[in-house]
Amino acid sequence: MKINLFLSALFAVMVSVTSGAEIVITGNDTMQFDLKAFEVKAGEKVSLTLKNTGKLPKIAMGHNLVLLKKGVSAIAFGQKAMGAGANATNPLPDSVKEDVIASTKLLGPGESDTVSFTAPADPGNYEYVCTFPGHFAMMRGTMTVK
Ligand code: CO
Repeated sequence: MKINLFLSALFAVMVSVTSGAEIVITGNDTMQFDLKAFEVKAGEKVSLTLKNTGKLPKIAMGHNLVLLKKGVSAIAFGQKAMGAGANATNPLPDSVKEDVIASTKLLGPGESDTVSFTAPADPGNYEYVCTFPGHFAMMRGTMTVK
């Protein structure tokens, strides 16, 4: 009986380590994320992949995905990044990273990048945005933590 309890406890630990959310989002040449909202559970591991499914060159139509801390709006952050010197090769200046939970690399056509992070413990809405110059008004979405 003791062994059974131990094994089920061990199994529970293994499940909690291996479970988590896997989110895949694409960005394309019309400046759209295909997924504008998704949900995760507070404190769970999240694996977030961005794929650039477009064909235009990275210098003209690169995409990244920047997940923002609670209360930071995608539009306001996009403007702040531009003000801090965001450009087509460095769309996420170091000086604005204090507002960021996680971010992918800047991706050219056919490229993808996966970032892993722990979902915030605080339930609510967290916005995400592409900070390639000119994209933040259209390429944005919301992660809801339940
Ligand atoms: Co973009």
